[in-house]
Parts: sequence; structure tokens; C-alpha cells
Amino acid sequence: MPHLTKDTRHRMTITLNGKQRSGFAEPRLLLTDFLRHELGATGTHVGCEHGVCGACTIRLDGEAVRGCLTLAVQVNGRRIDTIEGLSRDDGSFSVLQAAMARNHALQCGFCTAGILMSLDHFLTENPDADEAAVRDMLSGHLCRCTGYTGIVRAALETIADKKKERDETHV
Ligand code: FES
Ligand code: FES
Repeated sequence: MPHLTKDTRHRMTITLNGKQRSGFAEPRLLLTDFLRHELGATGTHVGCEHGVCGACTIRLDGEAVRGCLTLAVQVNGRRIDTIEGLSRDDGSFSVLQAAMARNHALQCGFCTAGILMSLDHFLTENPDADEAAVRDMLSGHLCRCTGYTGIVRAALETIADKKKERDETHV
């Protein structure tokens, strides 16, 4: 006689980078695994899986959060933004992405999606942040390749570029 197990998966619908996406999640499934394996959004990386490295950082209703510390079922009906949605609508780099590329702010790129999502949130909340504040924020991310110099430079250039944009629109 076959052993029948109850299907405990929840049907989930989220707004992922502006589009409604649906899938199923076991109650214990991590958000990172839901994004990567159920929805195929593999831009979000998984490193330590216990909240230390920051590689899994996504935005949940605008806030930067660790995807590996969030259960998928917690985000049903909510807005998730990931690295796949960070570029401009025409597919070109955002100001921050362009600054990262210009400053060679990545090597293997494993940490990069998480750092971009955190920086994107941080720079929105702190448009005039100084180098110390940027470095303090980056202390929540582990990058084994770059020594952080290019990342810090990219963040500071983004702050300067956005300030220039703001000044020009207010002239
Ligand atoms: S994988 Fe989430 S913090 Fe490292
Ligand atoms: S670029 Fe390799 S870990 Fe950051």
C-alpha cells in the first residue's frame, strides 16, 4: 500500500520586480529557495544561509532584508525586488550599476547582487551619506575578492552623480 503524505505546500503570489508571480512553498522553505528554485530568479545568491554574508539580500516592500532569514510564506502578497529588476526599464545599467562597473567593484561577483540591493536601499534612504557611513553599511556584507575599495568608490560616485542630477533638475 503506497504511503500517502499530505501536501503541505502553500500557494503563493508575490509581485516580483513589478510582475505578479505565483508558485508553491512548503512552510519551511526559505525565500531564497523559493525565488531561485520555484520562480527561477537565480540572480539572488546564497552563501552562508545564516544571515552573515549578505549575498542573499533582496528588498521586501522596499526594505533590504536577508532572503535566507525569511520564510517564503512570510512574503505572500508582498512586493519583492531583486537584482533582476535593478536596471533601468530599457535594460541599461542604473546609476549604481554603472558606477560599480566603472570602478571594477567586483571580481567573482558572488557577493555583488546582495551588495547592490543593500546599497540601492541605503543610498535611497541616505542620499548624502559619507564614506564612513558607506563603509559601515558594507560591514554587513562579505566580499572575499575586492577589498571593498572599488565598491566604496562606486557608492560615493553614485551619491555624487545623483546629487548632480538633483541639482540640475532644480535649476
Ligand atoms: S546567504 Fe543570507 S546572509 Fe549569507
Ligand atoms: S566579488 Fe567575489 S566575493 Fe565579492
